[in-house]
Amino acid sequence: MKRTIVLPVLLAMGFAVCVIAQSEADYSGWMKDVAATKGKAKKALDSKSNSDVADAGSHLAGLFKQVGAFWSSRNASDAVTIAKNAETASNDLAAAAKAGDDAKMQSAMQTINGACGTCHMAHREGSPGSFKIK
Ligand code: HEC
Repeated sequence: MKRTIVLPVLLAMGFAVCVIAQSEADYSGWMKDVAATKGKAKKALDSKSNSDVADAGSHLAGLFKQVGAFWSSRNASDAVTIAKNAETASNDLAAAAKAGDDAKMQSAMQTINGACGTCHMAHREGSPGSFKIK
């Protein structure tokens, strides 16, 4: 009788560990994508290619959504809030680009830029090439 309960519990625990390890491995990829996409958004903004700004904004919003879900699974509510704000600002950036609103695009970019540093100060350790989650 006992064995039939213990086995599923062990399996479930194994899955949970795999899921966490998997998203930690994904995390660095998301961040590289975030950095590259933010670079694209900045370039597009400078050259006034609003449709590219809108694309970059939507892509960033999707990435920050995943980042937020990651931190929510770790119960780090400060990081969840920062990611959520960055997601909102990315959606704002896309909407402002579609509306051709320069001032709103600039302020959305500033909010996104601010989110990087705030979260890195709180939750990133190590140095370039070997950053870690803390
Ligand atoms: C909610 C938290 C959070 C936000 C917001 C955030 N980062 Fe990160 N970032 C991290 C953590 C934690 C790491 C370290 C873990 C890692 O590198 O995988 C990291 C690592 C990185 C890395 C190093 C990736 C690697 O592994 O080489 C880059 C580049 C980066 N972030 C860029 C950005 C940029 C640009 C922004 C803003 C547009 C941003 N991040 C926003 C948490 C965040």
